[in-house]
Amino acid sequence: MAEDLSITASTDKTVQYQLLIPQIASLLEGESDLVANLANICAALKEQFKWFWVGFYLVKDNELVLGPFQGPVACTRIAFGRGVCGTVWKEAKTLIVPDVDGFPGHIACSSLSRSEIVVPLFCNDKIAGVLDVDSENLSQFDNIDAKYLEQIVKLISFK
Ligand code: SME
Repeated sequence: MAEDLSITASTDKTVQYQLLIPQIASLLEGESDLVANLANICAALKEQFKWFWVGFYLVKDNELVLGPFQGPVACTRIAFGRGVCGTVWKEAKTLIVPDVDGFPGHIACSSLSRSEIVVPLFCNDKIAGVLDVDSENLSQFDNIDAKYLEQIVKLISFK
């Protein structure tokens, strides 16, 4: 049974991640259902960081299809190489977009989203999907977010 997160009020992002990651690991421990685990990761990240939108897109039949998320309704399908998410799928590496208006082909699910980070999910060296996080602030995300979000998605089991 999931328990409440212990949220730290620290303004140091690194400290927040370092305290949150073991809690996410324990949330996932012993639960094999992918949707349940992705849903809890979204909830934990949203609760800790209050970002505008946190969610997963999963590769299905050669498209990215919307998975568990927290935030406003979002576009449901993204093609390979399209938008930030489709580009991360194609390039298989994390992308930080400080200003979405400066990213050619950015898909605006909400006009309120100003910056974004998208992290690939790997299953046996293949991309299984992406974690997408959007902020209403410009330049919200940096290499610290990339480092820790990459650690968080490594906790996901696709078995
Ligand atoms: N902005 C993303 C689309 C997904 S939404 O932000 C939730 C993109 O360009 O791929």
